[in-house]
Formats: sequence, C-alpha cells, structure tokens
Amino acid sequence: MEINIVNITSDDVKELYNCNKTVLPIYYYKDQYLEFINDFDHILLKAVDKDNIFIGYIIGRRENKKRFHILSFGVYKQFRRQKVGSLLMSEIEKHALNKFDSIQFISLNVITTNHIGIKFYENCGFKKVRLLEHYYGLNEHGFTYGKNINMA
Ligand SMILES: CC(C)(COP(=O)(O)OP(=O)(O)OC[C@H]1O[C@@H](n2cnc3c(N)ncnc32)[C@H](O)[C@@H]1OP(=O)(O)O)[C@@H](O)C(=O)NCCC(=O)NCCS
Repeated sequence: MEINIVNITSDDVKELYNCNKTVLPIYYYKDQYLEFINDFDHILLKAVDKDNIFIGYIIGRRENKKRFHILSFGVYKQFRRQKVGSLLMSEIEKHALNKFDSIQFISLNVITTNHIGIKFYENCGFKKVRLLEHYYGLNEHGFTYGKNINMA
C-alpha cells in the first residue's frame, strides 16, 4: 500500500476529528485542533493513501527543551497492521528532531488496558517509565512510556 505522511493543515480538521473520535475515547473540540495546528510547539501529521484518503494521524507537542510528548495517535481499523502506525511514529520523531534540535526524549501516556497500543510502543523501542494511578478515571490507570532520541 502506498502511504504518504504529510503535515495536517486547517483543511484537515474535520477528518482529523472524525478519525480521532473513531479510534480513541479521548478526543478534542475542533477548535482545539486548530489551536494545535497554529501553535509552533505542536506537530500534527496525517497518513494518506495514494488517493489522498485519510487513514491515520499523530499529534505531538514539545513539552520542554528536552521532551516531546505524543498526545494522540491512531489509524483506522481497516488500515491497521500494515505499518502505517510505525511510519507515523518514525516520521513524527524525525519532524520533532528537525524542528526542535534540543529534543532528547519522547514520551506518551497509554491506558493500562490498551494491550495493542502497549505492544506497538514496545515494538517501537519505548520503555515503561511510570504508573499513572487513576489517570484515565477511577481505577483506570495509565502508564507513561518513553524513549531516548537524538543519541548522536
Ligand atoms: C496503535 C496503532 C496506532 C498501531 O497502528 P498500526 O498501523 O496497526 O501499527 P503497525 O502496523 O505499524 O504495527 C507495528 C507493530 O506493532 C505491534 N502491533 C500492532 N498491532 C498489533 C496487534 N493488533 N496485535 C499485536 N501486535 C500489534 C506488532 O509488533 C506490529 O508489528 P508486526 O505487524 O510486524 O507484528 C493502532 O492499533 C490504533 O490505531 N489503535 C487504536 C488507537 C490507539 O490505541 N492509539 C494509541 C493510544 S495511546
């Protein structure tokens, strides 16, 4: 499958919202995506197929000089397991390193019951950093995962 990874613009907000809402229980107001797009610290990428069909996205934000945090990430079910997620993740790492040259660490939070997400992140080289008790609600715990980047 031919996949292209490109920057998300204001024209993509509706599709981004639809995809985020379909693949994850936590999503944003449409205006919030626009704020992310217009904010220098954020990077938003989408995966499209050869016909420019929206198949997945990833959103990350520089948290401080050294750390970049993945806020939201997903691929439509029918396109999973074809390395689209891996491509989105490796591209956002590259974009973050190019845009913010002091970044050394990439982090993300994941609910402890998202076994597929956890398998995916471990496969990408992320390691568990800490437990976030009740982070997603009462008795809904999370993990922070992280990975060193820019080791050169
Ligand atoms: C997590 C997600 C983005 C992965 O996207 P994807 O395009 O399917 O991922 P890839 O095809 O690049 O998978 C890479 C590796 O991750 C692991 N993996 C991915 N999906 C898996 C599954 N269903 N079962 C077991 N391992 C899986 C495998 O090791 C896989 O490599 P392999 O196919 O060679 O075995 C996707 O499952 C998704 O959108 N999930 C719902 C949203 C979500 O949970 N987002 C993360 C929130 S923190």
